[in-house]
Formats: sequence, C-alpha cells, structure tokens
Amino acid sequence: MDHFQYRNGTLWAEDVALSTIVEAVGTPFYCYSTATLTRHYNVFTEALAGLPALVCYSVKANSNLAVIKTLAGLGAGVDVVSGGELMRAMRAGVPADRIVFSGVGKTAPEISAALEAGILQINIESEPELALVNDVAARLGLTAPIAIRINPDIDADTHDKISTGRSEDKFGIEWTRVHEVVTRSAGLDHIQVVGLAMHIGSQLTSLDPFRDAFQRLSGLVTDLRTRGVEIQRLDLGGGLGIPYDDSAVPEPAAYGQLVREMLGDLDCRLLFEPGRLIVGNAGILVTKVVYLKEGATRNFVIVDAAMNDLLRPSLYDARHEIVPLVEPPPGGPEMAADVVGPVCETGDTFATELTMAQLEAGDALAIRSAGAYGAVMASSYNSRALVPEVMVNGEDFAVIRRRITTQDYLDYEDMPDWLEEE
Ligand code: LLP
Repeated sequence: MDHFQYRNGTLWAEDVALSTIVEAVGTPFYCYSTATLTRHYNVFTEALAGLPALVCYSVKANSNLAVIKTLAGLGAGVDVVSGGELMRAMRAGVPADRIVFSGVGKTAPEISAALEAGILQINIESEPELALVNDVAARLGLTAPIAIRINPDIDADTHDKISTGRSEDKFGIEWTRVHEVVTRSAGLDHIQVVGLAMHIGSQLTSLDPFRDAFQRLSGLVTDLRTRGVEIQRLDLGGGLGIPYDDSAVPEPAAYGQLVREMLGDLDCRLLFEPGRLIVGNAGILVTKVVYLKEGATRNFVIVDAAMNDLLRPSLYDARHEIVPLVEPPPGGPEMAADVVGPVCETGDTFATELTMAQLEAGDALAIRSAGAYGAVMASSYNSRALVPEVMVNGEDFAVIRRRITTQDYLDYEDMPDWLEEE
C-alpha cells in the first residue's frame, strides 16, 4: 500500500493534493511520501523480527538527503557505493558504524575516506582491491574491517542488466575461491575479515534464486569455520522486487522466513541492503501533457518529462503505471496512445499502446513507482534541467532538491581562449 490515493476525484500524496504541488513547483517533479517510506521500512524490519539484523538502505536507489535522513531516523544504516554516497550518508547523519561500502571500483581516496570515518565494513570485490585496502589502512595506521563479497554464480532470473550474481558478471569473488582469498587476507596486517557478502541482482520476482544463494553462503560459513575462520556477519544484499503492475512479487515476510530457515542458526549478524523495496513505490514523477499527436499508425501523448528524468523504461523496458491527477469518471471516454517524452530518441517512451482515459493538453499525470532509480539516474540530456524533488509528510510538503537549471550547467562551461571573441 502507498499513500498516493484519489480523494474526491484528484490524486493526493498523503494529505496534500498533488495539484497544489503542481501549482507551487511546476512540472515535471518527483514527489516522495514519508508515510510510504516509513511503512516500507517497517514492513521490512518486521519481516526480520527475531533476527540479529541491520537494515542498510541502499542509497543508490534514491540518495536525496531528506530520504536518507528519514530512514536513518527510523534506525536504518546504509549501503553506499561511492565516496559521493558516503558523503551524503554522513551529511544526513547516518552513524559510521551503520555504513557498509560496496562496489567494484573503489579508489584509494574513497577507501581512505571510509576508513577514516570508521565505517562498519568494506565489501571486497576483488583481490587487487583487497591489497589496496590493506595499503591504505596501513598508511592510516588502521585495520580495515572487510567482508568478502562472493559471486555465488546464481542466475537471479531478472533483467539481464541488473543481474549481478552470475559468474560472467563483474561483481564479487568467485565463491569457489573464497578460501584462498580468506587465507590471503590472514597474511595482511591491516585487514580483518568479519564476514561474507552477496547481492545477486535487483527486482527479483521469485525467492528461489535467494534460496540457492543462501544455501551456498551457509555452506561456505560452515566450511570456513571448520578451517578456523570466524565469520561473524553475513551481508545478504538487496534485490527484492516490487509490484510495478499487478504481477506477483514475494512478500517481505516470506523473504524473512526464508532467511530465518536458511541462515538463522549460524549465529551471524545479518545485514540487508534493500533499495527499491523501501523507496520504489514511495515516489512518483508528475508530468503534464504538452500535445496530443495523431501519427500515421499510432497516437501519441507527448509529456514534459522524458527519458533523461526517468531512464528505466528506455534502459530496461520497465513498465511504470501512469495515471491522471484528475480521476477519470467510471465509463468515461478512453483513448489508446504511446506516452512519450520530448527527447529526440524513439526510446524516449514511457508506455506503448496504453489504453487510458481521454486526455487533453495540459492534463497532469503521475508516473508511479518512480521513487527508486528515478531521480538518481537522471541526466541533462538534450540540455534539460534536473527536475525538482518534493517530499510530503502528512499535510506538509517541501522541495528537497531545487530544479538544477540549464543556466546552472552553463556556469560550469568555459570557452577556450581561441574561441573567445576579440
Ligand atoms: N546492494 C548492492 C550491492 C547493489 O548493487 C544493489 C543494487 C542493492 C543492494 C539494492 O538493490 P535493490 O534492493 O534496490 O534491488 N537501476 C536499476 C537497478 C540497479 C540495481 C543496482 N544495485 C533499475 O532501475 O532497475
């Protein structure tokens, strides 16, 4: 359940009519619901009740400071994948001992910033990275707490571009070589192995791949323990899918139960890195119809949001539900059209041959489930502004990131001497 509902014929975000925000901010904009964020976080933590769990929200899904701070206030830690995300997490007040750092290409300055901050753990994704973390820690006179991210060679059965746990993917260390890497770590003076980590992919719509991966992980823990290696923590990553349409996805409670069954007896602290599950359905992208266009074989609804604002449909063929801000009367006139943005690419399409209530130019629409991997993946392609982000909390709303305009971008560009006017 989310808090974007029709009331008296118009769409509201909690106790704010979205039309009020349209008037105040202009379209397009992202809008997030605090109540939905809170609810999703609570549903997930309740699903893990009784387990020694730390939920580390995956900041990459939505890294707005207000979003991070809302979740940190509920007790969440974070999973970061860059120095930039680390900076955001710390700015939002996340305690360092609740921060996990993942990612395949961490640089020396990023590792150094993480170690100096005293974060909970660095998830190691390769042997050269292990060596660099040891070197950086030595230089700082510190010991780096690390988890080894394993690649369990399991197909998460999700979109190819967001599968991360197959042997051909760039992530993690081949699970069959973990012993070797642990042995190697023991010889490094500034490394302390505290656990194992995994993340097999995103938008998983079945628990089966998780079951297979947990099985592999559990076997490894037992095996490492018999060799005298103490594994204290397991980071299980994120990946639980959300309903973008009416297709079925696993309930967080069933996921929690699976974790309990497969890993609950290992006496390990369990870390989780959900992103989409927490924030996906807590956000919408509000846009307006610019034109209705009749093509030769299709009709088009041309809106003022585009692929640069929400890339998911273009990049992953993702489908996001689109609804008008004014609730269509039951049995009212309908139309079928492609919903497209103004960017000069055919891929700039939010929906194809969608049947919807009859629209007119100027009508506002909400593109739903856009809270995760929406604003964070935006670009200024076609010299478009970065759209504002708005957060609602009960009857209040606030702009939590201003529009970043073309003028802002122009301020960063310099003309070389040879092109300057005399
Ligand atoms: N942990 C790690 C190490 C990850 O790489 C990711 C996501 C997560 C946690 C969070 O996964 P989630 O719970 O959100 O599924 N841009 C794509 C998704 C990319 C996911 C990247 N990694 C999309 O829009 O579908």
